[in-house]
Amino acid sequence: MTDLFAPFQLGTLTLANRLVMAPLTRNRAGAGEAPTELAAEYYAQRAGSGLIVTEGTQPSAVGQGYPHTPGLHTDAQTAGWRLVADAVHARGGKIVVQLMHAGRISHESITGLQPVAPSAVTPAGEVYTEQGMQAFREPRALETAELPGVVAEFVDAARRAVEAGLDGVELHAANGYLLQQFLAEGSNQRTDGYGGSAANRARLVIEVATAVAAAIGPDKVGIRISPAGKMNDIAEVETAATYAALLDGLNPLGLLYLHVLESPETSFHEQLRARWDGPFIFNTGFTGPSDLATAQTAVDSGATDLFCIGRAFLANPDLVERLRTGAELNVPDTSTFYAGGAAGYTDYPVLV
Ligand SMILES: Cc1cc2nc3c(=O)[nH]c(=O)nc-3n(C[C@H](O)[C@H](O)[C@H](O)COP(=O)(O)O)c2cc1C
Repeated sequence: MTDLFAPFQLGTLTLANRLVMAPLTRNRAGAGEAPTELAAEYYAQRAGSGLIVTEGTQPSAVGQGYPHTPGLHTDAQTAGWRLVADAVHARGGKIVVQLMHAGRISHESITGLQPVAPSAVTPAGEVYTEQGMQAFREPRALETAELPGVVAEFVDAARRAVEAGLDGVELHAANGYLLQQFLAEGSNQRTDGYGGSAANRARLVIEVATAVAAAIGPDKVGIRISPAGKMNDIAEVETAATYAALLDGLNPLGLLYLHVLESPETSFHEQLRARWDGPFIFNTGFTGPSDLATAQTAVDSGATDLFCIGRAFLANPDLVERLRTGAELNVPDTSTFYAGGAAGYTDYPVLV
């Protein structure tokens, strides 16, 4: 049995244990969508995880998907992230920022801009805005000539992450945001070199990863995917072929990790684990609270190197210690997930 609570060497990062805190959007950024001292406190409280993956963070103004999510494209935002990085490092933790371009999962009332996407396909459903829930509107299809600019935004944000003292970035290619919109047939109906085949649909994601790795070093770049995930109106057809093409393009880069989010209904993670040359993080998805037994089985079976947990970390700053000692867990309060302020953010109790 592998000891989940023993250190794990992830590239150049020595993690205190194999439990990763999942990226969790909390909508508490301050003025100019910059992380605040409160965010620094929240993340520092959770520095006992092996690795923190931060909430989704937009690499550009148009990439913002929800009110008050932090960005990483201005100097003030970079300074805010420095507060977070310093606070986590002071507690001995490791932290990478998740770079999330929301693409069509956004709204003009949030950014003042028409959302962009691979194709002008309106997602079903509604988006949360300051004015309440609003139906998605038709996004603008990115022109081929604009795609190098999208890549450059990710590169700029990644450079800022390093400047802020963070340990790296996680590229968010999961959950129906811009990068998965390119991977999925339903949202990507392009007829240029970025659509129409598995290799073409994977092209932008590979270009982003390649450029970001070249800019800050592959040992500072992880990537998250959710193959066959349906979140945010994603419809994939050739999932196996698409993700095979993606991994074949990513493997030569020598990235920090591949992070797979998948519900137990499908088992693409098994194929991906076999195909992937580097470290692997697994998150079983919103099927119920992730627990220690699931994590232990996943690691012992060789399905993954590291196990990622979301809501239990949200509600338990000292989750690792609680799991290690078999203590009871605080229950997440869903009403404060996205509510703003300290309540349900920095006030979950720790064991004394
Ligand atoms: C409040 C909340 C916010 C989330 N925000 C993000 C996010 O910003 N980026 C992301 O990739 N996943 C996000 N997720 C998904 C989680 O990372 C994770 O995959 C999910 O909660 C399943 O893990 P769990 O069962 O351990 O909670 C979010 C989930 C929750 C509950």
